Amino acid sequence: MRTVHVSAGRPYDVLIERGLMDCAGEILEQALGKTCKAAILTDDTVDALYGAQTQGVLERAGFQVCRFVMPHGEENKNLAVWATMLDFLAENQMTRSDVIVAVGGGVVGDMAGFAAASFLRGIKFMQIPTTLLAMVDSSVGGKTGLNLKAGKNLAGAFYQPCVVLCDPDALWTLKPEQLADGVAEVIKYGVLGDKPLFDLLKDGKWHDRMLDVIQTCVAAKARLVEEDEHDTGSRQFLNLGHTLGHAIEKCSDYSISHGHAVAIGMVYAARLACRLELCEPVVETQVVSCLKANSLPVAAPYTAQQLCAVALSDKKRAGSKITFVLPDAIGKCELKKMVVADLPELIRMAVEE
Ligand code: GLY
Repeated sequence: MRTVHVSAGRPYDVLIERGLMDCAGEILEQALGKTCKAAILTDDTVDALYGAQTQGVLERAGFQVCRFVMPHGEENKNLAVWATMLDFLAENQMTRSDVIVAVGGGVVGDMAGFAAASFLRGIKFMQIPTTLLAMVDSSVGGKTGLNLKAGKNLAGAFYQPCVVLCDPDALWTLKPEQLADGVAEVIKYGVLGDKPLFDLLKDGKWHDRMLDVIQTCVAAKARLVEEDEHDTGSRQFLNLGHTLGHAIEKCSDYSISHGHAVAIGMVYAARLACRLELCEPVVETQVVSCLKANSLPVAAPYTAQQLCAVALSDKKRAGSKITFVLPDAIGKCELKKMVVADLPELIRMAVEE
């Protein structure tokens, strides 16, 4: 089994191996040092695939299990669904010595993590990510939260899990576009700090290296989280493609998925960097070609004005400044603080071909 240790304020391991979901009970018992009540929080899609299986595995290890199933999709990552989760935990008399088990993709992980952070002012939780995006990004690092009407992830907390279990066998049940969502985040790690990873990905024929790739990305994320758990410095590199990516998601009313939006956001970031002469023009071409080879989109159907209106509500804005992550080269990025007043022009430069 591969293990990546995350030395956050509250340290934990990310375990990566095929077939690991069948060992979830033993792994959780080891992480907690005991068995207790476990509330599985999942969505309807994942529940149909892994709900009963995970419940059985936990029960066989001695946990007393209840299960809450939310409707799937980014549009359900909201206050109303979070409130029903908290009511469920209260109705099932969960206490601070019990545990939440998040089984699903990024939406479930963020919501369940925020429920864990807020219920009784914090109870332990385990992440079992079932999408590539959640394995390489959202399940690690303790960002939890939900969307408000004004924008994505505007409410939330930093709250680390007690253990993360990545079982790549779960990826077989993903639709190709869901897998591609995670691939966008994997490519992000290549662009922002790992040229050999980018080179491995660039022709799209790397899926036989899935375990290595997951481990590489989780290790990269762990390093950034250890340096800057609360996202005031180097962790912001992980936002490559996200400033405009979030605006694209919001403009599409979340019909463009997170990974697809991040892919387009990375093209815009590369184009802006080229136009600001921070990098060679070939960087944009390399990013576009890698994304296309991995079945990801490279442009969005929104004008610079539409994206600008939404980007102004982005939480990465700090007063009159907004931080962009821009590539200097493949494998090297910089954080660039921009003046909000310049945003319309910067977004025009990023979007217009
Ligand atoms: N998904 C970006 C981060 O965890 O900071």
